[in-house]
Amino acid sequence: MDSELYDFGMIGLGTMGCNLLLNMADNHFAVVGFDINRAKAEEFEASANPHTIVKGVFELSSMIQQLKKPRKIMMLVPAGKPVDDVINNLLPLVEKEDIIIDGGNSHFTDTLNRIHFLLEKGIHFMGIGISGGEMGARTGPSIMPGGDKVAWQQVKPILEAVSAKVNGEPCVAYMGKGAAGHYVKMVHNGIEYAIMQLISEVYDMLRRGAALNVDDLHEVFKSWNKGEMQSFLLEITADILAHKDVDTGRPMVDVILDKAGSKGTGKWTSQNAMDLALPIPTIDAAVSARDISVYKDQRNAAAELYGTANEKFIKDKQKFIEQVHDALYFATIICYAQGFALLHKASFELDMEVPLPDVIKIWRGGCIIRSALLDDFYSVYKKNPDLPNMLLNKKIARLLKGKEKKLRTVIRQVTPLKIPVAGFASALAYFDAYCSSQLPTNLIQAQRDFFGAHMYQRVDREGTFHNEWQPLPEHKKEEVEHRP
Ligand code: 6PG
Repeated sequence: MDSELYDFGMIGLGTMGCNLLLNMADNHFAVVGFDINRAKAEEFEASANPHTIVKGVFELSSMIQQLKKPRKIMMLVPAGKPVDDVINNLLPLVEKEDIIIDGGNSHFTDTLNRIHFLLEKGIHFMGIGISGGEMGARTGPSIMPGGDKVAWQQVKPILEAVSAKVNGEPCVAYMGKGAAGHYVKMVHNGIEYAIMQLISEVYDMLRRGAALNVDDLHEVFKSWNKGEMQSFLLEITADILAHKDVDTGRPMVDVILDKAGSKGTGKWTSQNAMDLALPIPTIDAAVSARDISVYKDQRNAAAELYGTANEKFIKDKQKFIEQVHDALYFATIICYAQGFALLHKASFELDMEVPLPDVIKIWRGGCIIRSALLDDFYSVYKKNPDLPNMLLNKKIARLLKGKEKKLRTVIRQVTPLKIPVAGFASALAYFDAYCSSQLPTNLIQAQRDFFGAHMYQRVDREGTFHNEWQPLPEHKKEEVEHRP
C-alpha cells in the first residue's frame, strides 16, 4: 500500500463529513474519509468530482497509514461519548505531533478536558466550530478554530481554502485559547436560537394576528430579505413558506408538528451565561419557547381550559407588517448584542482571549446567522474591540432608536390576541433594564436584608450596611441584652 498520500483525513462520513471533504478535494487537497460502514465509504469515493484525489476507507488503520505527517484528522461525529470513542480508537494509531480535530458541536468543557488529556501524549487536539449546515460544508462554511496555535498553523491553509469568502476574505480565523472554537460556536448557536424564535413569532403575529396566509407570508419574508435585514435565516424562511406538501398539497409548515427539537447548544449558552452572571434573556427565552412547545398535550388541555383569543385581527395589515419589520430589526440587534456581551465576558473569565472583531468578521459569510447587519457590527467592534456591550455604541444607538417605538407598538397590539412573543418581549425588557439608571433592585436588596440580614450598600456612603427592620419581640430583646 502506498503511504503518506493524503493531506487530510475525516472520521464520520455523514453528510457534513462527506461534504467538507469533497470541498477540500475541489480545492486541490488529497483527502481520505473513514466510515465503519463500507457502503458509505464507497459512496463517498464515488461522489467525488473527476480529477480530484478522494479515497473512502472502512478501516481506521488504513486511513492513518496513508496520511501525510503530521497527520491532520478531523472527526464529525455526534457530541459526547462518540468523540471519546474515536479518540480512544485513534490513540494506538497516531504519533506525537499528529493533529486531531473535533469539528462537531461538543461542549467546550469536554473539549478542554480532551486538550489536556491529549497534550500529555504529545498529540495536538483542536475544537473547531463549523457552521453552515450541509450546503455550507460543501460550498463554504464559517469555521471557528481555537486552541493549539501550532496545529492551527498546520491546518490554516486547508481551512482558509474551504471556508466561505466575504469580499475575498476567508470566513475562518483563530478564535482564541483553549476551547474557544467550541465556545464561540456555542454562542453562535445561542444567537441562532434567538433569531429563529423571533422569526417564528413574526410568522405567528402576521398569520394569527393579521390573518395573512402562507403565500402572503412568503412574499413578506422575501421582500424583507432584500432590505437592510437581509440574512440567511430570512431567506430560508421565505423558501420554506413557498413549499407545499406533496401528499396533501397543503403548505409544508401546516403539516409539520409544532414541537421543536434541540441538540443542546442553545441550552449550554444559557447555562454558561448564568454561570458567568451575564444576562442573555432573549436566548434564554428561545430555549424555553422550544421547551414549552414540546408539552403539546398539556398545551391542548390548557387551551381548552383558558380559551383562545377572540377572532379579532389587526385591521391595517400593511401598517402592521411595517411595524413588525422594524420590531424584528430592533430585536435581532438585541440578540447579537447579548451574544457579543457574553463572548466579551467569557473571553476574560474563561481565559480564552477571543478576538471579538474576528468572530464577527467570520460570521458575515457561510454561517447560519450571517446577515447584512454584521457589516455594521464588524465596523463597530473593529474600532472598539473591548466594547462590553454593543448597545453602548452611538452608531448602534442610532439604529435602535429609529425602530424602538415600533417594537413597543407591536407588543401592545399582540398581547390582547394572546399571541406569545417571549422573544420580542424579552428583547424589549432587556433593553429597558439595560437603559435604566434606576432599577427597583434597591427594594430587592431591602427584602434580602429584611429576612436574611444579607446587607446592602447605600447611595450616600461607602460600605455595607444592615438595618434593624422590625422591633425584636420582648423575649428576644432580653436574650440579646443578656448575651455575654
Ligand atoms: C450550524 C448549526 C448546526 C446545527 C445546530 C442545530 O451552525 O450549522 O447551528 O450546528 O444545525 O446544531 O441545533 P439544534 O438541533 O439544537 O437546533
